[in-house]
Amino acid sequence: MASIRNIVILTGAGVSAESGIDTFRDGGGLWERHRVEDVATPEAFARDPELVLRFYDMRREAIQTRQPNAAHAALARLDAAWPGELLIVTQNVDDLHERAGANRVLHMHGEHLNAWCTACDARSPWRGPLIARPACPECGERALRPDIVWFGEMPYRMDEIFAALREADLFVSIGTSGAVYPAAGFVRNARDLGARTLELNLEPSQGTLWFDEARHGPATELVPAWVEEMLAG
Ligand code: NAD
Ligand code: APR
Repeated sequence: MASIRNIVILTGAGVSAESGIDTFRDGGGLWERHRVEDVATPEAFARDPELVLRFYDMRREAIQTRQPNAAHAALARLDAAWPGELLIVTQNVDDLHERAGANRVLHMHGEHLNAWCTACDARSPWRGPLIARPACPECGERALRPDIVWFGEMPYRMDEIFAALREADLFVSIGTSGAVYPAAGFVRNARDLGARTLELNLEPSQGTLWFDEARHGPATELVPAWVEEMLAG
């Protein structure tokens, strides 16, 4: 591990699965209980804003009752102890990485604890069910939506993500199916830019063949073991 200084870690719904938060495509995953077209697209929001607001209010309530698991805790330990560059790029909208103590976290799909005003574009901390149509703290308009990236919308802070990938010596993908781009393509970007690549996932992802190494099992087992390896030097 001596040659590894800069690390980019991509996490997906699988890292929060053992905290009790539905993944999107596993078994009875989130999408199977809610048609994607009905809740996670701008068109859905335009067609039936109440349905979408109720869905994300429900999802936020559920997430708030969950706790970080051993995988989040291990990544927070690595974040605190790692001397080089380290960035946790998460596709998740939950705040379990932060609640476990991680600081260097980038939410490329937004955060369920933020609201986005469609009138003035301001982001603000979520203050209560959006179905109640609270006023935007900036402009006063009752035009708030979840600050979550929907299908068909561009993920956030891609320039920062690619800047980190350019510097990465190691790219680790944890708990993501490799089904959704651009996140699913990061492993290839990392390889092309010279990084080593490691997959930690319950089972082989759609991109597993692009990884130099893949370990399969629950994140709460794989991630603490990998972090101990990294901190042992
Ligand atoms: P995409 O083309 O990047 O992803 C395609 C994959 O998304 C499909 O393989 C499928 O797994 C899923 N998907 C997309 N539309 C679907 C549908 N109608 N039914 C079932 N599965 C569907 O998706 P995109 O539209 O280009 O998304 C753009 C960005 O929005 C991506 O970065 C994506 O990750 C993001 N996004 C965020 C959320 C969220 O809730 N945070 C939800 C969806 C998408
Ligand atoms: N430990 C490790 N991996 C797990 C665990 C676990 N306990 N449980 C599930 N997984 C893995 C599954 O094998 C699957 O590969 O996590 C992955 C979850 O995949 P998805 O449900 O597709 O979630 P994700 O990859 O985060 O979806 C990407 O798609 O819908 C959009 O924007 C949304 O962020 C989401 C993106």
